[in-house]
Order: sequence, then C-alpha cells, then structure tokens
Amino acid sequence: MKITFKAAGSEDRTIEVHGSLTLMEAAVRHGIDEILAECGGACSCATCHVYVPDEWLAVTGEAGGMELELLECVEARRPGSRLSCQINLSPAMDGLTVELPPA
Ligand code: FES
Repeated sequence: MKITFKAAGSEDRTIEVHGSLTLMEAAVRHGIDEILAECGGACSCATCHVYVPDEWLAVTGEAGGMELELLECVEARRPGSRLSCQINLSPAMDGLTVELPPA
C-alpha cells in the first residue's frame, strides 16, 4: 500500500508499505526523519505526531485513551492529530496521506 507524508517546505514523500506495521514503524523504516518515535511506540513520547485529514479519520479511527491524554500535552495539536504509533495500517489505508507537524 502507498502512504504519503506531507510537510511544509518539502516535497511530498510517498512510501510503499508491505506487511502489518504501524504508521510510525512504516515512516521510520522509510526514512521519514521527522518521525522521531523516541519511545519506540509505547505511546509515551508524542514524537510520532501526525495530522490525519478529515476524509481519512473514519478509516484510521480517532485517538482515544492514553493517546488522547498524551495529545493534550502537544502544542501543535489540531483536529485530526494522531500518534502514528497508534495507527495500525490496514489495506483500507492504501493511499492515506498524512501531514507532519511543524518542526
Ligand atoms: S512513538 Fe512515542 S508516542 Fe508514538
């Protein structure tokens, strides 16, 4: 499946993902350097923050539980904010485009 990352001031990057990964794992494996993922996916660092566009929220789901608590501390939070380590990629997400927060 293909996933595209958008960031202000740089070209869109589209990666090809195989297997069952989280969005964070896919980003890190494909060199999306803005995703630091300091806690390794334990939902405790928020350095894997992305913005999911409205049209994809029904597919990715919305943040809940610990993720929501952590997002409350994120300065650049917006509607659609998610922690990419909490998004398990599925075939329905082929073509997903997410935006990266400002550096
Ligand atoms: S990798 Fe740390 S919260 Fe997602």
